[in-house]
Amino acid sequence: MQGIETVSLAGKKIILGVTGGIAAYKAAELCRLLVKAGADVRVAMTAAAQQFVTPLTCQALSGKPVLTSLWEAASGDGMEHIHLSRDADLILVAPASADFLAKLAHGRADDLLTALCLARACGLAVAPAMNREMWAAAPTRRNLEQLQADGVSVLGPAAGEQACGETGLGRMLEPADVLAALPGLLGRGPLAGKRVLVTAGPTFEAIDPVRGLTNRSSGKMGYAVAQAAAEAGADVCLVSGPTCLATPAGVRRIDVHSAAEMRDAVLRELPSDIFIAVAAVADYRVEAAASRKIKKSAAGLTLSLVPNPDILAEVAARPDAPFCVGFAAETERLAEHAEAKRLKKKLPLLVGNLAQDTLGQDSAELVLFDEQGRHPLPRADKLAQARHLITHLATLLN
Ligand code: C5P
Repeated sequence: MQGIETVSLAGKKIILGVTGGIAAYKAAELCRLLVKAGADVRVAMTAAAQQFVTPLTCQALSGKPVLTSLWEAASGDGMEHIHLSRDADLILVAPASADFLAKLAHGRADDLLTALCLARACGLAVAPAMNREMWAAAPTRRNLEQLQADGVSVLGPAAGEQACGETGLGRMLEPADVLAALPGLLGRGPLAGKRVLVTAGPTFEAIDPVRGLTNRSSGKMGYAVAQAAAEAGADVCLVSGPTCLATPAGVRRIDVHSAAEMRDAVLRELPSDIFIAVAAVADYRVEAAASRKIKKSAAGLTLSLVPNPDILAEVAARPDAPFCVGFAAETERLAEHAEAKRLKKKLPLLVGNLAQDTLGQDSAELVLFDEQGRHPLPRADKLAQARHLITHLATLLN
């Protein structure tokens, strides 16, 4: 992935749909960024969107008349919604309200923007924005599931403070983050055409049907890496241990629990061009997990542990090995341990971090180790770090 200054959408025709919600003000900035990236932008606004931002704002920013009505847009043959959508490389609806998503999921076409979406022959991406309860509501969940099954890319939402004063999931992504996702959706980006397999999160090794051994990995770094790879245009499969995170747009996710399940899923997904092992795989599992709940006893309990397979080392040793990237979380002497691990597992690239500074956090300080040496990445949020990593990886590959 690229920093937003370097995102190029030159030659791409994008319809920016704006629906009614307070986040509509972000659409003005997004429109500016799209134009700056070289896109040919037509803005289509719903009636509700015009209660928040005027068409004149979007006209001034896009340099083109704004589309507001199915009837006014009709040209000679009255088929303007068909022509416009045929001509586009992508329709991007940002913000997409709960009501708009509901209409989209049901194939409604009672205004210009819904008609454009239904008549399209190009990709469709939506950046939802709504109150957290609306986002969590069962009908919205159903609509989202339907839209994803229909191939619509869902960008965000983000968590944080909301216009209504509540805090939670439902904020529209920042315009720069929406922009960052577009090259990948348009088949551009440094990893276009590449298959990328990512592992993320902890593993859970059963002791008995109700207990298990796990670790404090949140999965945030692995999910950020999967997102950054998708933004860079890759076809991404994410094999994830138990986490509470949402799947990044355009990423296919396989859920697993134990290291053995993770290994099986990874091997099934090969061959791949790139394998990025971010998961904190348990080094040991219980030799014989009990099939019934172990009863408490004053005598204490001794568990016999056996080593788990090293998924990364196994993949890196295959004759058809992808380009393999490892992660090493250390609590001390980072450079020494990380470089030793890179050589032992025969990896072209290894990402080192201090476990105590990173686990469960939203930001990380990383060091990349490759054949050329060390490349420190000063502390930044995990998505920014993941984007740096993918840029570095793409440079090594090319
Ligand atoms: O050896 P260590 O566990 O520190 O190596 C970390 C790297 O190896 C990470 O990339 C991790 O995802 C991967 N790994 C693995 N399977 C294991 C243990 C670690 O793929 N059983």
